[in-house]
Amino acid sequence: MSGSVRLQTIYVALSLMAATAVFAHEGHHHHDEPARSRSEQEIRDEKLKRIGVSYLAQVKPIFQKACFDCHSNQTRYPSYYKIPGIRQLIDSDIAESKKHLDFSNDFPFKSHASVEEDLKAIGDEVREGDMPPFRYRILHSRQKLTKEDKAAISTWVSESAAILK
Ligand code: HEC
Repeated sequence: MSGSVRLQTIYVALSLMAATAVFAHEGHHHHDEPARSRSEQEIRDEKLKRIGVSYLAQVKPIFQKACFDCHSNQTRYPSYYKIPGIRQLIDSDIAESKKHLDFSNDFPFKSHASVEEDLKAIGDEVREGDMPPFRYRILHSRQKLTKEDKAAISTWVSESAAILK
């Protein structure tokens, strides 16, 4: 059973429980709120929440390893950060990275683009091997993405895009 199938199963089970609870209460109480269909916004929020849950489980540890030094406020500064000139380069790199995409507060990420565009950009950059950038990979060989990391990210990206369709 894949993670997403399991999540979906849990999700369906929870929905059924919620429905049962509502039925069980009927006859005992009068509900003040009339039944209404859920708004588009509520449905979208729920989808984002599901994607956020799988992000935490499947992708965040990988991003912490390979992306957070630039795309978050949890940078692990290297020893050469102290070298005059280098510090400025690193600081501006981080500022530029976070302007595009900030993973600090988990999914949905802070960015100027839509969630859909962010997912696509992440999928593209990772597939093409453009992130983390070459200048980072040559200095941080242990932080680069493995084949398994890339597969996990790409699965999460496509599952998330499908949920949002
Ligand atoms: C050394 C710092 C650094 C690391 C580490 C890094 N990035 Fe980036 N990233 C940047 C910079 C700088 C930019 C903006 C300029 C550019 O696109 O090259 C960027 C841009 C991006 C974009 C494009 C956003 C857009 O607006 O289209 C994506 C997606 C992205 N990074 C994802 C990642 C992911 C995923 C990781 C980890 C696997 C990662 N990056 C690791 C520096 C970094």
